[in-house]
Amino acid sequence: MNQATDHITPIGTVLITGASGGFGREFARRLEARGYALILHGRNAEKLQSLRESLAHPEWHRCFAVDIGDTAGVNSLLGKLVDDTICGLVNNAGFGLWGGFADREVEEQLSVIRTDLCTPIALTHALLPQLISQQGFVINVSSLAGEYPLPYMSSYAAAKAGLSYWSEALRIEMENRLRIVTLVPGPSPTGFRDISGMASGPGSFFRTQPRIVIECALRTLDNGGGYCVPGWRHRLLWLLQKSIPRFIGLQIMAGKLRGN
Ligand SMILES: NC(=O)c1ccc[n+]([C@@H]2O[C@H](COP(=O)([O-])OP(=O)(O)OC[C@H]3O[C@@H](n4cnc5c(N)ncnc54)[C@H](OP(=O)(O)O)[C@@H]3O)[C@@H](O)[C@H]2O)c1
Repeated sequence: MNQATDHITPIGTVLITGASGGFGREFARRLEARGYALILHGRNAEKLQSLRESLAHPEWHRCFAVDIGDTAGVNSLLGKLVDDTICGLVNNAGFGLWGGFADREVEEQLSVIRTDLCTPIALTHALLPQLISQQGFVINVSSLAGEYPLPYMSSYAAAKAGLSYWSEALRIEMENRLRIVTLVPGPSPTGFRDISGMASGPGSFFRTQPRIVIECALRTLDNGGGYCVPGWRHRLLWLLQKSIPRFIGLQIMAGKLRGN
């Protein structure tokens, strides 16, 4: 029996951005099982609807398909939430961009920064009063890409580095008022790699299932929030990032990500 059937009415409402993707779907299943009504956000309305119908209590949940890659999109999503009281926010929507800085359009690169960094900050700021009043939580889905400069994925690494720094600093500012998780995964089998345009080889040894990633995020939340690198493979990669001198590490990463 699904745990969600234990709840007759939802215990609160959680907004999950990027719910139509790999991590987002897993967050949706796990948070519904904890008794939350969900606002499932993404761009692909069909995927969002099919996720909603696959859940135990579709009648609890709503779907909003909006591009949140710019301020107008963020405001449009916030405009749909005026009648809601949100107790949890999962800033998960994001994408990577693979290729030399000179070879990719600047607009694509700025879009990574806006979607992966500016949007989580804007959504969190707008929803902060209600999140605090509900003694709620924020989960920011960052990346191990933010722990090391990445040649050939430079804008993505910059966006995730910014997201992790902001999220960790905010956690301390919000102590005793809001639980904040900075989730820092490495490679996982979702739509991410195809969308970034990256070849399938680099990082495959470190691939970790979304189930393990999301379980770790929720365990960290249950412990009051914090910084979380999920699963032993991602933790090994994190240790390598911390222990290999940067001038060597940068050459290794450039060799792996340069492509043909
Ligand atoms: N998988 C990995 O290896 C990995 C590792 C570290 C961190 N991450 C991070 O994990 C998060 C989730 O990604 P994923 O791995 O689950 O990849 P995914 O399957 O590609 O899902 C990405 C989600 O983000 C949404 N999204 C992207 N750009 C958007 C925009 N401009 N407006 C609205 N929604 C947008 C997508 O919506 P639509 O599909 O509906 O367009 C999709 O729901 C991302 O922040 C990513 O950077 C992933």
